Amino acid sequence: MNPFSAMNLFRIQLAALWLVLGLILACQKQPTPKRLEGTIGSNGMVVSTHPIASDIGLSILKKGGNAADAAVATFFALAVVFPEAGNIGGGGFAVYRTKNGEIGALDFREKAPAAAHRDMYLDANGEPIQHLSTRGHLAAGVPGAVAGMVALHQKLGSLPWKELVQPAIDVARNGHVLTAIAAANLNRMKAEFQAANRYPIHLVRNDRPWQAGDTIYHPELAQSLERIRDYGNDGFYKGKTADLIVAEMQAGKGLITHEDLANYRAVWRQPVISSYKGKYRIISMPPPSSGGVALLQLMQGSENYPLAKWGHNTAKTVHVMTELERRVYADRATHLGDPDFYQVPVKMLLNPQYNRSRNANIRMDKKTPSTEIKEGSVDRIESLETTHFSVADKEGNAIALTTTVNGYYGCKVMVQGAGFFLNNEMDDFSIKPGVPNQFGLIGGEANAIAPHKRMLSSMTPTIVEKDGKLYLVVGTPGGSTIITGVYQVILNVIEHGMTMQEAVNAKRFHHQWLPDHILFEKGAFSDDTKKQLEAKGHVLVEVGALCKVDAIRVRPDGKYEGAADYTRSDGKAAGY
Ligand code: GLY
Repeated sequence: MNPFSAMNLFRIQLAALWLVLGLILACQKQPTPKRLEGTIGSNGMVVSTHPIASDIGLSILKKGGNAADAAVATFFALAVVFPEAGNIGGGGFAVYRTKNGEIGALDFREKAPAAAHRDMYLDANGEPIQHLSTRGHLAAGVPGAVAGMVALHQKLGSLPWKELVQPAIDVARNGHVLTAIAAANLNRMKAEFQAANRYPIHLVRNDRPWQAGDTIYHPELAQSLERIRDYGNDGFYKGKTADLIVAEMQAGKGLITHEDLANYRAVWRQPVISSYKGKYRIISMPPPSSGGVALLQLMQGSENYPLAKWGHNTAKTVHVMTELERRVYADRATHLGDPDFYQVPVKMLLNPQYNRSRNANIRMDKKTPSTEIKEGSVDRIESLETTHFSVADKEGNAIALTTTVNGYYGCKVMVQGAGFFLNNEMDDFSIKPGVPNQFGLIGGEANAIAPHKRMLSSMTPTIVEKDGKLYLVVGTPGGSTIITGVYQVILNVIEHGMTMQEAVNAKRFHHQWLPDHILFEKGAFSDDTKKQLEAKGHVLVEVGALCKVDAIRVRPDGKYEGAADYTRSDGKAAGY
């Protein structure tokens, strides 16, 4: 048989035609890859770092509370179940947007006690005394947390205050089960807890290490919360709790007095705002946090580069973002501080022309070395702990709230008889110009210690609008890495087309001018990207998790997508 006969050729052509048609159909039928989305809810969403806190927030939404109500309840729940950073002995910031588009920012940052002074952490030779600003009583600023929650409730809440504090009291009294992460954190800190406290604290277990599944009770914290439930601010800043804090201070040579507590006020401030590519509006925290200003500077700088075209975490994208971060963190060190004490040039820093000229010397072929100030060496980063949660309700009200005691469990001192840790936020001041704090951040005059002053923060609770409507609610813990964490997650959604969950999960990196290196999570960069970055002069340092973002996106169909940082924390997005 002639294989090339006319009939056979016809058969071959027919077979080839079928093959091509089959291939075309197969390609068309290929399902579009499934996108990874977080929890979807039509009526409300609470995303926090602990399932119990998220569920308590959700229960408040379900019983008719609004986003502010849920935020207050989530806040107090975190003070019980997440003492690493949840607190009543610390402070924080919140940014809100109502269903009508009104926006605001709440500052409940700690303040320096009246007896604080510029050189209080320096020895006779003017050198910083190791750990004095991070461990023990002297490290604590006047807490702002309770005043913040009272202010939030008074302005925006709808349910009775008592109903919002009670769920946390119930958990403190009835106990809650430790996760593996929580048990490990407590075990790791045991020696530090023992060193910092004059008496045994209930978080130290002597018979055996804590294990996942153990139930833990907080009876003294429950009593402190009951006083807050019954008397609001007076239940913390006056009366028994204030007495216990002052007694603790006196026993440990701390500075906080009755007057410091009674005089503490939370402050409503104007958020900082910047547009991004005409379509988005970024609404974030103003000073005394550096977070909002720095984020907006980064977003302004990013507008001028085709990041979407270059792709996520490619060498070009990482290089440009790093160069922007280098310049912004240098500004942060010099210009940012408490606006009640120092004229922070916010307008200048957010002027697009200023940022354009500042970024004009970015080169694509090599990095700009951070040589303007002698680099400070950080012996170790003690922790990057803080906590953030995001809330949105069925009306479209939204709150981004970040709170902290600074390091893990703050200064490690638990107020005797009151069951909560005090912060070590004084370390966020510049304790000496040019000397890095525990995050390696450098500061100067703008952030020098002064009585009643608020220490500079990096917390960046942020809300993003798209076409004038609520789009993203985002924030994270992470000390100095907070700003770049929020920046990356926003770009991941806006520029790289990720869902909220994909944006949160994506591997991150960080640069903060000094020290002059890029921190990156394992898997953030391909080998080729690493080589290209090193060829431009970048120094790469692999670290563990950077940030724990808890965020919400409004999908095109109007439903909320809540994304907790599941791979880096115990977080949970609870929606309905
Ligand atoms: N304590 C960390 C911050 O406020 O940035």
